Amino acid sequence: MTPSLPARTRVWVSESPEDTRAAGSQFAKTLRPGDVVALHGPLGAGKTVFTQGMALALNIQEPVTSPTFTLIAEYEGSMPLYHMDLYRLAAPEEFVWLGVEEMLNGKGITVVEWSERAGKELPKRTIQVHIELRGNTGRTIRIERPL
Ligand SMILES: Nc1ncnc2c1ncn2[C@@H]1O[C@H](COP(=O)(O)OP(=O)(O)OP(=O)(O)O)[C@@H](O)[C@H]1O
Ligand SMILES: [Mg+2]
Repeated sequence: MTPSLPARTRVWVSESPEDTRAAGSQFAKTLRPGDVVALHGPLGAGKTVFTQGMALALNIQEPVTSPTFTLIAEYEGSMPLYHMDLYRLAAPEEFVWLGVEEMLNGKGITVVEWSERAGKELPKRTIQVHIELRGNTGRTIRIERPL
């Protein structure tokens, strides 16, 4: 196991999808152009729900769903939001082939579900969000910002 980098940690407790959406919105308000966010958590943890909250804060009108087959969805808001779902990525190299360089270093926010599939291809500055299940509708959302 690799030790995690020093980080500033913030924890939210969610009791419902609405709470998770609200956490995503609050969190998104702290972001700057070029920020990259990796979402961790099992199937159905609420990664997409959290992203929907982020989209709300970015004034995105379009409904946000998981881009499972397309891998990347781009939304226009107060800043662009690049929503990636790498569940179907076969190998980390494929992530680079997707041509994500401009997104990761652009003027938008990139949020990545199943970022583990990208191996070490995400920037070191990536903000890590871990969603853990607590019963049926409880979630612990831990946000770690590398220092
Ligand atoms: N506290 C909660 N926060 C978020 N979602 C919750 C919560 N309680 C129940 N849910 C339900 O869990 C599901 C979360 O689905 P979501 O698509 O966001 O998961 P996901 O982590 O993106 O999964 P996947 O890995 O399949 O993309 C939704 O059906 C939602 O209604
Ligand atoms: Mg999802």
